[in-house]
Amino acid sequence: MKILSIYNLKGGVGKTTTSVNLAHAAAQDGFNVLLCDLDPQAAATFYLNASSPDSMKTGKLLKGKSFAHKQICQTEFIHLDVLPAHLEFRNLDRKLEEEKKSETALSSLFKGFRGHYDLIIADAPAGITLLSENLFQLSDRVLVPTIPSTLSINCFEQVQGFFKKEKLSKKKLRAFFSMADRRKKLHRETIQDFSSEDSPFLSSIIPAASVIEQMGEHRRPVAAFARRSPASQAYAHLWSEVREDLSLD
Ligand SMILES: Nc1ncnc2c1ncn2[C@@H]1O[C@H](COP(=O)(O)OP(=O)(O)OP(=O)(O)O)[C@@H](O)[C@H]1O
Ligand SMILES: [Mg+2]
Repeated sequence: MKILSIYNLKGGVGKTTTSVNLAHAAAQDGFNVLLCDLDPQAAATFYLNASSPDSMKTGKLLKGKSFAHKQICQTEFIHLDVLPAHLEFRNLDRKLEEEKKSETALSSLFKGFRGHYDLIIADAPAGITLLSENLFQLSDRVLVPTIPSTLSINCFEQVQGFFKKEKLSKKKLRAFFSMADRRKKLHRETIQDFSSEDSPFLSSIIPAASVIEQMGEHRRPVAAFARRSPASQAYAHLWSEVREDLSLD
């Protein structure tokens, strides 16, 4: 079982949108996928037409086992399940802190899913918190959607700095350009600046596209309602790159 976290220190960059579209693409490829919505906003839960449970015991969830399994919802898509978020997840950091090895305390939750899923995709909230640190430690890859603009690049470099400081393997850190608008000179130049062979940026670029914003109306991934759109094809390309990078076959 591989763990892929979709993360950025910065908010509103396309983390949730990416999580949902990649999870759907992976499930379409036949992998058993669990999207863990770890953001109290519950946007991934919403996009997959699921709902948060009435109540949630976050501490108990972190222990994994049968309680965690009971929270999982199937989606309308074969092979794709979701662990819905709850507003209580605003306390995730506090709960993780109460655990013994707090930087890896999320491992019990993930371990409980082994044997059931081929891929866990974690939709992380913005910020750099104990939850993010757990995801950095436990994920096979941390994928950072990055808008091709100065502040976004700054954020990615801050994350790279954090990985270095905490001696986390930089090999697991990947980025890709999200919400790219090629009409903008800054976007074109930024993409060009990070196109070298040894760049941590994948070659896939997700364009800024109104069809992606329509996911909220459809409550479905783009490929489920606009399969032929360039945006849907861009996510398919991103998934094939991520799949190869994760050595999932
Ligand atoms: N490629 C895109 N083109 C156009 N709009 C996009 C694109 N990707 C995301 N959006 C829109 O931008 C907004 C933020 O996207 P999303 O919720 O995926 O970001 P996020 O990084 O998860 O945000 P948060 O930090 O709040 O969790 C949403 O309204 C979404 O529809
Ligand atoms: Mg989000």
